[in-house]
Amino acid sequence: MALIDVKVPDIGDFKDVAVIELLVKPGDRVAVDQSLITVESDKASMEIPSSHAGVVKELKVQLGDKVSEGSVVLTLEAEGAAAAAAPEPAPAPVAAPAVAAAVPATAPAPTPAEAPAPTVAPAVASTPAAPHQPASAPVLGLPHASPSVRKFARELGVPLAEVKGSGPKGRITLEDVQNFTKAVMAGTVQTQAQAAHAPAPAAGTGVGLDLLPWPKVDFAKFGPIERKELGRIKKISGANLMRNAVMIPAVTNHDDADITELEAFRVQLNKEHEKSGIKVTMLAFLIKACVAALKKFPEFNSSLDGDALIFKHYWHIGFAADTPNGLVVPVIKHADQKGILQISQEMAELAKKAREGKLGPADMSGATFTISSLGGIGGRYFTPIINAPEVAILGVCKSQMEPKWDGKQFVPRLMLPLSLTWDHRVIDGAAAARFNAYLGQILADFRRVLL
Ligand code: COA
Repeated sequence: MALIDVKVPDIGDFKDVAVIELLVKPGDRVAVDQSLITVESDKASMEIPSSHAGVVKELKVQLGDKVSEGSVVLTLEAEGAAAAAAPEPAPAPVAAPAVAAAVPATAPAPTPAEAPAPTVAPAVASTPAAPHQPASAPVLGLPHASPSVRKFARELGVPLAEVKGSGPKGRITLEDVQNFTKAVMAGTVQTQAQAAHAPAPAAGTGVGLDLLPWPKVDFAKFGPIERKELGRIKKISGANLMRNAVMIPAVTNHDDADITELEAFRVQLNKEHEKSGIKVTMLAFLIKACVAALKKFPEFNSSLDGDALIFKHYWHIGFAADTPNGLVVPVIKHADQKGILQISQEMAELAKKAREGKLGPADMSGATFTISSLGGIGGRYFTPIINAPEVAILGVCKSQMEPKWDGKQFVPRLMLPLSLTWDHRVIDGAAAARFNAYLGQILADFRRVLL
């Protein structure tokens, strides 16, 4: 029995690609062509096959390691003719580009003497990968699926070992993974993990969200289309928004604040400070007014921790900033200790950093409450999503002149629409209405901040 180093074959332009899956372990018997590891670049994932048959002696890579052509994957106690000759594997054909993986492979099937071409799948598969017929059936009952199907399953959290393959020789197809997911969502199938952890449901009670599968529409049938990947910020914020929208029982209260005098004061301040370069914004006043309301209603400045509330004795206010790359939330720290001019200046600096994509994690962490202002853009009211683990968020829209009855006549007043979304596990409707009313009083007469 000869010991053979099984190496990464020629994988084209892929260099220093990360190992994301180990498909075998020491002691496993592997066949020629059998996938040993999965590697992934930013564009594609691919399985690295074995050039020889034999028994795995030692794995030379770990999850997260970077490999390139020639990197040793494992040592193998080779069997049969290979053990006697122990030939170096012939270079594999260059890996197909990611997009080409979606169409049937045209390369000739490798012979056992050749190192087989790695199977390449798009990092985000839009169409099912081509069926790839291995030279031999998988050994040891490993889930038998193409890299794109494995990746798809990983993204959905589907345990491939529990999916029954309907393809040739039991190969798991993309449709098998989709059908398994639908069955789990519909509650007709349980994964082993669910079965192990979920309490037995009482008869007639619902389990899970029981949602319909996402509608699958071939848009191109109806007209020309273009596919663009979401940017990094959208991907990250999307996942956070989804969790917050689903997990928080959120309610929104709408109200109006009379800011006629405050706006006149703001305009006056800006005239006085014209030369300083600092522009005083309505948002700076809102931050200060919110701090006063948060101090009066401390549960709005708290976070849920199991069955307890953590009350924070600091007031860091996040504000949503629209940037070309998506929404970010920089934070004004210790807003209670800062004046309107300082807050305005810091906000301008943070908004600039946000637009230039230069905000660091410290600029965006620690908020105890958030304000999302669409005042500079327009609209009347909206329902902002709470930024967990905060328990409330204030949405602000564009102020406008409205006729208000003063007891004798209608007078023009500048009204600011407020939308306060709050977590009903922590706050109730009466407290939210009081918070909004108090905020309105402060904004109508800012001297109240001093009280
Ligand atoms: N009502 C009427 N006008 C308002 C207003 C309000 N509530 N708030 C601001 N404005 C006016 C300002 O006075 C300014 O007018 P001017 O140029 O004549 O002086 C104009 O709108 C633009 O204001 P802006 O410079 O954007 O300052 P801001 O303090 O209102 O906002 C940001 C700063 C960073 C918050 C803002 O640029 C932004 O990104 N907003 C979008 C936030 C968002 O997308 N939220 C939604 C999350 S779902």
